[in-house]
Amino acid sequence: MEKKLAVIMAGLPARGKSYLSLRLQRYLEWQGYGARIFNVGAYRRETLGPASSRSDFFDPREPSFARERERIAKRCFGDLAAWLEEDGDIAIYDATNVTASRRAYLKDECEKRGFAFVFVENICDYPELIEKIIWIKLEHSADYGAFARDAARADFARRLGHYESVYETVSEEPHMKIINFGQKVVRAFSPGDILLAEMADFLGAVNLMDKEVYLTRHGQTYFNCEDRIGGDSPLTGEGVEYARRLADHFKGRDLVVFTSAKRRTIETASFFDCERVVLPELNEINSGLCDGLSYAEITEKHRDVSEARGNDKFDFRYPGGESYRDLIQRVKKAVIRIEAEKRDVLVIAHRAVNRCLVSYFIPTPPEEVPYIEMPLDRIIRIARLNAHYGCDWKVI
Ligand code: F6P
Repeated sequence: MEKKLAVIMAGLPARGKSYLSLRLQRYLEWQGYGARIFNVGAYRRETLGPASSRSDFFDPREPSFARERERIAKRCFGDLAAWLEEDGDIAIYDATNVTASRRAYLKDECEKRGFAFVFVENICDYPELIEKIIWIKLEHSADYGAFARDAARADFARRLGHYESVYETVSEEPHMKIINFGQKVVRAFSPGDILLAEMADFLGAVNLMDKEVYLTRHGQTYFNCEDRIGGDSPLTGEGVEYARRLADHFKGRDLVVFTSAKRRTIETASFFDCERVVLPELNEINSGLCDGLSYAEITEKHRDVSEARGNDKFDFRYPGGESYRDLIQRVKKAVIRIEAEKRDVLVIAHRAVNRCLVSYFIPTPPEEVPYIEMPLDRIIRIARLNAHYGCDWKVI
């Protein structure tokens, strides 16, 4: 990265800013960026306690409260800036930032400190969607722990009204606008900015469906029997049996199946009658010079490869091929496809690819990723627990 980046969220309360911030942080961290969220609401609660959660505190006609809110927002941004200046790469400033004057301050601070910045505005105009987010918020936000359900809903409506009375939509550039969770993305930044373009693709894909994601490897192949890597081997009889049983297991489910472009995953999906999509970005790690060899042959013919891989399996790049770190850069395209789906998803892919995918959903230190257990004949079910607490996984 040429410059450190501040991602400045904007939008009314209950438009999904915190949810998108969390997803974005995960996506960036998974790729190796130092990414952190600075949430102004958390600073407010910590500084002023639960009383600051009542709607009166957000009344713009009350100057002492407005000053207090600005003071907290600036302190939070100060910590963000200090972190970015020290060791961070991308900081996400999670706050409403609904006024042009607040945004002018943030823009100015970023420019003074030499940070790149982007405003990410969340807009929802589907009442059902807003209502869904409101209830997620009321259930999970520390602000409403002490309120009864109806009182919380009524107080939140008043808070929303206060913000609506001063809301000015983002016109400052660069910005992106995420409208109704993936319905539309407005991009107002240089088309050559690859990181922003990727973030817009990702944020435009994320939605609020409680879908489940299943991962499995292909059925057994002739190459598996000989412990050979790579290649494009077909399934054995046992592999075909697995393919049949896999389709039986999911019968009747509203599901989309993603496979790689390799024969073994396409054959494994062949008994499904739902939609099947071939994604070449799910192809197995490219083992370059070692493609088609068995692990024993690699040790015999390319001892240096075995040794170097043993020393740092995550970063080792096969001569003429890929490393796990490279693979994440390829597989991220499939992650965006998975996020964009509203149905449950079954991914039929490969050992290294599935390890990378698991480590996106379940944060895993990079050095452990190449060792995640990923046998044949197993299904991994990843369930989105809820908007704020991430994912859970289970091996079937
Ligand atoms: O052996 C099957 C396989 O999918 C190979 O094609 C691939 O190179 C390998 O697994 C990845 O696993 P590891 O990184 O542990 O060698």
